[in-house]
Amino acid sequence: MTTIVTGGAGFIGSALVRKLAAAGEAVVTLDSLTYAGHLQSLGEALEAPNHHFERVDIRDAEAVRAVFQKYRPSAVMHLAAESHVDRSIDSPMDFVSTNVTGTVNLLQAAQELWSALPAGEKEAFRFLQVSTDEVYGSLGPTGVFTEETPYQPNSPYSASKASSDHFARAWQRTFGLPVMISHCSNNYGPYQLPEKLIPVTILAGLEGRQIPIYGTGSNIRDWLHVEDHVEALELIVRKGTPGNTYNIGADAETTNLDMAKAICACLDEFLEDSPHRPHEGLITFVQDRPGHDLRYAIDSSRMRDELGWRPRHSLQEGLRQTVAWYLENRWWWEAIREGGFKDSERQGLAAR
Ligand code: NAD
Ligand code: DAU
Repeated sequence: MTTIVTGGAGFIGSALVRKLAAAGEAVVTLDSLTYAGHLQSLGEALEAPNHHFERVDIRDAEAVRAVFQKYRPSAVMHLAAESHVDRSIDSPMDFVSTNVTGTVNLLQAAQELWSALPAGEKEAFRFLQVSTDEVYGSLGPTGVFTEETPYQPNSPYSASKASSDHFARAWQRTFGLPVMISHCSNNYGPYQLPEKLIPVTILAGLEGRQIPIYGTGSNIRDWLHVEDHVEALELIVRKGTPGNTYNIGADAETTNLDMAKAICACLDEFLEDSPHRPHEGLITFVQDRPGHDLRYAIDSSRMRDELGWRPRHSLQEGLRQTVAWYLENRWWWEAIREGGFKDSERQGLAAR
């Protein structure tokens, strides 16, 4: 029973690999280590005898096929992606090649393996396409995304994820591959690269730099702790129904401005002697993201009712723990900076 986790050196993938490896499961991390992939995020899993790492680019169909034939997985949890909306505005083709072509390469490799399996193993095989709520587009002030909400992606990132979801669905409908798709809201927690709102805010506040809030800060995101996401993904693979889609969210809608203020309050509390207190004074409104989705909100009742999933982390407590983690784990983000990652550069300001 081997699981291949693509993108296992990234933020969510590493949380999943750490959990699977700690539980003694056989797990293979398949990752090309882009700017977003870091082996140090794997922690103890990196040395665990039940964990293997394969540095493979999912755009390379033959290399992907070779890994599948080598390990003959019973489950594939596909998280590898270009994941940052701002970068997709500057370099959309990277998103097309990894998120679309890469996903089709994985589906083909899985299909080849699955179709030759004996009946029992064929029945048990699962391919989980880890998608995003952003494929549904943007909500107004009311309403929620359900599994029936039509796709309406607005950014090159979400368009590429939507496209890859369609291919995943097609492989289930046309070839019978046991594919499931999950749509998750914004994740937060340890090991998130400081290009996303929460770690950007924590590190800017800590270092006394401007905290950049796009537009008026009134855009709303629905926040979910990464460990709750990972538990949901495991449940889907174990108990979900092939062909189904599952929305994952924790009912934690917050405006970006309120999120930044909440992080600043944590920093004020943890850094009593900081010259940057009150950290809220660092919040700066900057040029808006082109095509900025106003609001996301997830109805996760299928996850809760059919699979019995419940998020364990409240946003308030999860956020405090996350801020504390970044303060206590400088080694992690300093090593990433030393590797050339620049976290204070604004991206995605393409002219309309
Ligand atoms: P991330 O950017 O932190 O990690 C992506 C990982 O994929 C990295 O390890 C990177 O090296 C790897 N990767 C990228 N291109 C690759 C390629 N061509 N071949 C092999 N590996 C490659 O992303 P994340 O935030 O952990 O997101 C993981 C998945 O979850 C993505 O599919 C994303 O769309 C989805 N998702 C993310 C969120 C979120 O809030 N972060 C929410 C919902 C869904
Ligand atoms: O909803 C799920 C999606 O959440 C995932 O599919 C994506 O992979 C993930 O990156 C995330 O997308 P967002 O665009 O919502 O995340 P980001 O952290 O980039 O931005 C969150 C909000 O904060 C968004 O409204 C833009 C705003 N923002 C972001 C940054 C980086 C700022 O105001 N300032 C910033 O510096």
